[in-house]
Amino acid sequence: MAAVSAVAALAPAVAFAAPPADKQIQLLAHGKYIVERVGMCADCHSPKGPDGKPIAGEELHGGPLPMSPLHPVPGWADRSVKIAGLPDGYTEAQLATFLETGRTPSGGTASPPMPSYRLNASDARAAAAYLHSLN
Ligand code: HEC
Repeated sequence: MAAVSAVAALAPAVAFAAPPADKQIQLLAHGKYIVERVGMCADCHSPKGPDGKPIAGEELHGGPLPMSPLHPVPGWADRSVKIAGLPDGYTEAQLATFLETGRTPSGGTASPPMPSYRLNASDARAAAAYLHSLN
């Protein structure tokens, strides 16, 4: 019995020591899921080769868009920007705010066809942390 209670008493200390690394791994895994499976950022932000497939090693590096509007769209951007690492002019926190509100650091909005995402705060924070972890 004494051995069991000694283990029980130790358990919280062990659980307390482990989380930081685990939490960071979970945050990045969740961010990868948001970027790759929910936001589909690569559709526009990964440059494609002549075969239409993403160019290896340049994922999320920005480039010409693989589509254009049938009718003129005011402000249409025909290139996307590099978002691996962090987009130019963004801190990780500003990127999270952008993905949560659609507001850029200067208080504006992005040009179409960049979607104005409305992720919740934890999804936005995870996506920003994941993009920051790339290069
Ligand atoms: C349908 C195409 C499309 C998708 C999908 C897309 N983007 Fe974009 N994004 C663009 C284009 C085009 C621009 C350039 C327009 C601009 O910078 O205003 C852009 C610009 C940006 C910018 C810079 C905005 C600014 O003007 O300051 C950020 C940051 C960004 N995208 C992040 C993301 C992230 C993160 C995802 C996925 C969650 C994503 N984008 C998905 C097309 C897209």
